[in-house]
Amino acid sequence: MSAIDKNRPPYLGYGLGLRVEHYQSLLDHPQGVDWLEIISENYLVPGGLPLVWLERFRARFPLAMHGVSLSIGGTDPLDEGYLARLDALARRIEPAWVSDHLCWTGVQGVNLHDLMPLPYTEEALEHVVARVRQVQDRLQRRILLENVSSYIRFAQAQLEEWEFLAEVARRADCLILLDINNIYVSACNHGFDPMRYIDGVPVERVQQFHLAGHEHGAALLVDTHDAPVPSPVWALYEAAVRRFGAVSTMIERDDHIPPLSELLAELEHARRLAEPLARAAA
Ligand SMILES: [Fe+2]
Repeated sequence: MSAIDKNRPPYLGYGLGLRVEHYQSLLDHPQGVDWLEIISENYLVPGGLPLVWLERFRARFPLAMHGVSLSIGGTDPLDEGYLARLDALARRIEPAWVSDHLCWTGVQGVNLHDLMPLPYTEEALEHVVARVRQVQDRLQRRILLENVSSYIRFAQAQLEEWEFLAEVARRADCLILLDINNIYVSACNHGFDPMRYIDGVPVERVQQFHLAGHEHGAALLVDTHDAPVPSPVWALYEAAVRRFGAVSTMIERDDHIPPLSELLAELEHARRLAEPLARAAA
C-alpha cells in the first residue's frame, strides 16, 4: 500500500530558478533569494559535477524540483526508469516539493520536446487523474502540476482549462503550480478573461506561483521565458495574491539570462507587491 505524505509543503517565500549562469554568484551573494527551483532533468545522474554543485545549493537553500518529462497526459505508459531516477534525486536532496506540467510531451516513444496542451474532456480527465495517482504512489508524495501556455484548443473540449486543472487536483489529490504568465499568454491567445481562470482555481490547492516574460509573435503571445515580467503579468500576479494569499513565488528565466542582480531586482519587486496584499488576504 502507498504511504503518500499528505502534509502540506511549507511556504518558502521568494525564489529563483537555478541556472548554471548564476551558480557562483548565487553562492557568493545568496541574499534576497529564499529558495531555488531546479530543473530535475539536469540532475538525474548518479554522480559528478552537477550533483556536487547541487549539494552546495542544498546546503544553503530550500529546493523544489521541477520536471519537464513526466508527460502526465501522454498515452505512452509512464516511464518507470524516469520515475526511479526522479525518486532517487528526491530522496537525495529532500526537496520541499516535486512538480511537472499538466501536458503531454510525446507519443509512441517520440519526444516532441515541448509541453503540449490536452483536450479538456472527461476522458482525458480520468486518464490524467489515474496517472497522477500512479506517480504519487511511486514517489510517495503529492506532486504539483503546472498550467502550460497554449496556442491551440481542441474542438472536443468539454471543460475550460481551469476547470480541468481544478478537477485533476481534486480527484487525484495533488497540488497546483500556477504559472501567472502562462494564464496571461493563454488568455490573450484564446480570448478569455484571465480573472475567470484565477477565480476558478481552488485556493487550497495552490502551492507555488511562476512568474515569467513572453514575446509578442505575429498573431499570438509566445511563452519564451526570455524577458522580464511585463506589467500585465504583474497586475495578474497582484490579483492572484489577493485570492490565494501568500504563495511561494519564483521567477523563471530560461533564455537571454541576465546578470543575477537583474533577477534579484525583479524578485524584490515581487516581494514588495505581494507582501502587503498577502497580509491583507490573511
Ligand atoms: Fe512556468
